[in-house]
Amino acid sequence: MGAADTSAQSRKGTVRIALTKGRLEKKTLSLLKASGYDISELEAGSRKLIFTLPGTHVEIVLAKAADVITYVEHGVCDMGVVGKDTIMEKGGSFYEMVDLGFGKCRFALATKKGKDVYGGYKTPVIATKYPAVTKAYFTKKNMDVETIKIEGSVELAPLLELADAIVDIVETGSTLRENGLEVIEDVAPISARVIVNLASAKLKKAEIQKVIAELESGLAQD
Ligand code: PRP
Repeated sequence: MGAADTSAQSRKGTVRIALTKGRLEKKTLSLLKASGYDISELEAGSRKLIFTLPGTHVEIVLAKAADVITYVEHGVCDMGVVGKDTIMEKGGSFYEMVDLGFGKCRFALATKKGKDVYGGYKTPVIATKYPAVTKAYFTKKNMDVETIKIEGSVELAPLLELADAIVDIVETGSTLRENGLEVIEDVAPISARVIVNLASAKLKKAEIQKVIAELESGLAQD
């Protein structure tokens, strides 16, 4: 039995769910509420990190997106709610069970208005916070690019002439617009997903199915 199996087994009866802090947090909490869970302690806003939902065997952990995947992969959390963007960039072994349909945005290739990214003789330089997504996209297109990792406000890279284009998340498009950039290709759609640890899916099948059914009933009320 692996470490993940042991962890899932030792918390038998409880389902621990890792939620992504930040962008997805508000909508995920609204979904839990609509699904019938009492989330008043989570809404109260404190520095606490692990919560037991009253009257249930469900525990909630708040974590950064990439860490949600790490905790679920290692089996210290049975389930997670995380964006497809993080799933695509980080990968890993887990089941992706439900598309929650919120947190909708997309990965796109963007550049300065009017620029021909593929026009020059040199290998195009692409700046991104998501090098794995970028490499996979251009490999699939059978194109050679140089990828430069940027940690935030990637839009700066083409404006400063560091890169020919960016691969980044576009939600409303206003960041691009306000900086004279435009989408030239859509790369992939993004939304929040429910992921499940491989061992937990077997060992806690009934408990996990119950939580998923409750979340789906919460979604249906929107
Ligand atoms: C993301 C993304 C864009 C912006 C897109 O950044 O990297 O900069 O949101 O949103 P829009 O299309 O609605 O303008 P985020 O806010 O996550 O901040 P970061 O750059 O610090 O990661």
